[in-house]
Amino acid sequence: MKNILLGVTGGIAAYKAAEIARLFVKRHISVKVIMTKNARRFITPLTFQTLTKHKVYTDMFEDVFYEDVRHISLAKEAALALIAPATADIIGKLAGGIADDMLSAVVMAMAGKPVIICPAMNTAMWKNTIVQDNVEKLKNHGYTFVGPAEGELACGDTGSGALAEVNGIVNATLSLLEKSAADDR
Ligand SMILES: Cc1cc2nc3c(=O)[nH]c(=O)nc-3n(C[C@H](O)[C@H](O)[C@H](O)COP(=O)(O)O)c2cc1C
Repeated sequence: MKNILLGVTGGIAAYKAAEIARLFVKRHISVKVIMTKNARRFITPLTFQTLTKHKVYTDMFEDVFYEDVRHISLAKEAALALIAPATADIIGKLAGGIADDMLSAVVMAMAGKPVIICPAMNTAMWKNTIVQDNVEKLKNHGYTFVGPAEGELACGDTGSGALAEVNGIVNATLSLLEKSAADDR
């Protein structure tokens, strides 16, 4: 069974990540969810725990055991990491090499395995040149971006910044999983 990580960050589109998790499970892919602290303000871990049948991770320092450094073992056992939705904040952290929470630390430890980022934010945030520089930098380091899409945003604005369509995210992830499995052969 393929094993992937789903990172969920603190944006309005966090509720859509539940459907993404469900679609992977339906395809017999094991999904471990890492939520940021702020993502838990938008959707509860219980939803993901129930859908994926796995513990949901947020706190790097919770249940630390001497035999397992969890942010490393989570990265090692995963074939791929997907962050959906990805806030401007997590994009900035990853681009800046910051690893101060479970999600950013695990992504940093992915060691060249595919990382897919699905941004979702207000248009003005998305167009911010610092965000755009961060996206370019991450692309140059091999990270894959899916979206954002154009549309009506939760804040009432219309423009680029909506989370890409859920099926598109799942299909892009499955293609990359296939490709990386073929490259490993
Ligand atoms: C109601 C509400 C909606 C938000 N939606 C978004 C969003 O869609 N995208 C985004 O980048 N930030 C959004 N934010 C701001 C983030 O929650 C904030 O930057 C936070 O620090 C992100 O933390 P995280 O990246 O660790 O999850 C929103 C904040 C609030 C209060």
